[in-house]
Amino acid sequence: MQHTAFHYKTLDEVRAETEKLGTELPLSENVQALLTPLEIHGHRAMNRIAFQPMEGTDGTEDGAPGEMTRRRYLRFASAGPGIIWFEAVATLPEVRASAHQLQLHEGNVDAFRSLLDEMREVSLRKNGYAPVIIMQATNSGRYAKPTGVPSPRIAYHCPPLEDTPLPDTCLVSDDDLKRYEEAYVPAADLCQRAGFDGMDVKCCHRYLACELLSAYTREGEYGGSYENRTRFLKNCYRAAQSAVRDRDFFLTSRLNVYDGFRYPFGFGVREGAGLAVDLREPLRLIGELREEFGIPLINVTMGNPYKNPHVNRPYDHGNYVPDEHPLEGVSRMMHGLSEIQHAVPDLPVLGSAFSYLRQWSGCLAAGMVEGGHCAVAGFGREAFAYPEFIHDLLRTGQMDAKKVCISCGGCAALLRAGTPAGCIVRDREVYRA
Ligand SMILES: Cc1cc2nc3c(=O)[nH]c(=O)nc-3n(C[C@H](O)[C@H](O)[C@H](O)COP(=O)(O)O)c2cc1C
Repeated sequence: MQHTAFHYKTLDEVRAETEKLGTELPLSENVQALLTPLEIHGHRAMNRIAFQPMEGTDGTEDGAPGEMTRRRYLRFASAGPGIIWFEAVATLPEVRASAHQLQLHEGNVDAFRSLLDEMREVSLRKNGYAPVIIMQATNSGRYAKPTGVPSPRIAYHCPPLEDTPLPDTCLVSDDDLKRYEEAYVPAADLCQRAGFDGMDVKCCHRYLACELLSAYTREGEYGGSYENRTRFLKNCYRAAQSAVRDRDFFLTSRLNVYDGFRYPFGFGVREGAGLAVDLREPLRLIGELREEFGIPLINVTMGNPYKNPHVNRPYDHGNYVPDEHPLEGVSRMMHGLSEIQHAVPDLPVLGSAFSYLRQWSGCLAAGMVEGGHCAVAGFGREAFAYPEFIHDLLRTGQMDAKKVCISCGGCAALLRAGTPAGCIVRDREVYRA
């Protein structure tokens, strides 16, 4: 299905289009709700805007933040989000997604610590408060590419993701999984020493923990039943928890609640034909993470950026033309967030996929938070293009149409190429590089 690229001049035009598509979005021009602070496990986020984790592929070979990493995070901190969800940081060298993905270890923990100190200082100076900073600890699994060459570590064979079937040597054994779980002990320890407020046991976008949630066809203790499919994630939590010393340090997850495809089933995908969303298992998992590990918030996302990128980040332009209007993608995400937030009203839900709406994305964020559909609006691509939108939005209620992300996919293309990522349209430092 072809659609016309983003052309809406007014909020009413956006409303009319969503109505035509048979859906609705909560859009509000009153941004007051975004200014309410949020308590997270003894930390205070001073507004309801988060910057989502965005891998920059600009770390040093040793996994430390590089000069471009520092630049990105100081820009982010200066912009004043209540939360900075720091990008995917590998738990082991062999599970890095690129030769320049960050990897925290004994040898570079001080470099992370200095960056965090600087971020807090910059934000305090500019905004009068420091952001809550959460590190995303990752095992890239199927998408591991530690030296720039694919080195997939897969939970099970998944033909829709394998143009050429991968050899069995790519399958991770139960023993491999146990070793990977153990890596979350030093990860949590180092994360505290680096000064992060919390750690995300990443479980999204089809990286290893996320892939296991749909390992219906895997034999043994990590496949088949719900208990087995969630075992790796929970064991990673247990490992991480054993290293938690600081009372105010917390664990959480960025969790995929919907795969958007099936083989033979998908996590969060209704059984039977079609790809309807079914949040029963994700809700059960969120409840258990809260009960067993005391997560103080959950970052909810959907889709697989390699297989169905429009589900994760609705866009207008790209090589892959999806069979849905981007506003339907935005709507799917918002309805999913709302269903979860209403099912767990006292657990803050942090939402994704606001950037497509450009200058109106702040209205969507405000409408979602005001209506109690999520507690925090998380921005990805917009943070690359126009981080200072927060000042404009919270001060004037408006975002500048000439500065917003145009959902061109350029930042994702840089990431896939393994080169430093950022906004190729709005950020001179990136398009110069
Ligand atoms: C260049 C790039 C890097 C990303 N890196 C990460 C990452 O490290 N961890 C993660 O969970 N999501 C990552 N994402 C996904 C974003 O966090 C976000 O979910 C997505 O862009 C949709 O939000 P948006 O519509 O605000 O851009 C990345 C996306 C892009 C484009």
